[in-house]
Amino acid sequence: MSVTLAFDVYGTLIDTQGVVSKLQELVGDKAASFSQTWREKQLEYTFRRGLMQNYQNFSVCTSNALDYTCTFYKENLTKHQRLALLDHYRTLPAFQDVQAGLSQLKEAGYRLYAFSNGSADAVETLLVAAGIRDLFVGVISTDDIQSFKPNPAVYRHFLKESNASANLAWLVSSNSFDVIGAISAGMNAAWIQRSQEAIFDPWGIDPTITVKSLLELNDKLANK
Ligand code: LAC
Repeated sequence: MSVTLAFDVYGTLIDTQGVVSKLQELVGDKAASFSQTWREKQLEYTFRRGLMQNYQNFSVCTSNALDYTCTFYKENLTKHQRLALLDHYRTLPAFQDVQAGLSQLKEAGYRLYAFSNGSADAVETLLVAAGIRDLFVGVISTDDIQSFKPNPAVYRHFLKESNASANLAWLVSSNSFDVIGAISAGMNAAWIQRSQEAIFDPWGIDPTITVKSLLELNDKLANK
């Protein structure tokens, strides 16, 4: 039976810091920390909405997080500027290793899916813009069940939709909370540690494998 790979999207395939150059035009030197706070708040809002069972889709979390970040950094961006930033977020770039890494894995016979908190429509747009949509069998969104990672229900939803069994399915993510969530839900998981500075949450739940780039994944999976 073939092995199924569930690729996290934001932060794993697509570089959420890709918005920094756009932000530089608007907030100058604060761009990098602004972008980081925006991303951290966006994720916090998904966790909180999940716990509260008060669902709004990922783009609402992104937009609310942008408003928070503007207030935090005392940046009075106009509505037009905020909309331009959110628009930019729909076509963020892929990381450098993505195209070649995914192609290797597809060629090796793995079934590739994009699996994201983002709505299917937003993820399709991102993957098409990054030129990698054709490498995937499909896009599966947590939006289908109105929840977010790391609710175990979203990983079960992925397995059901992709018709995969947990022992033959891998979540591939740079987000440590996502890796821990998938393992906790019974899947295998690969952590993509692109930067030496990236810290894996010390919960005693380790990734099945760790790689520094998607280009290492094919070999590492073959030896599993
Ligand atoms: C995603 C978030 C976790 O793409 O970045 O699902």
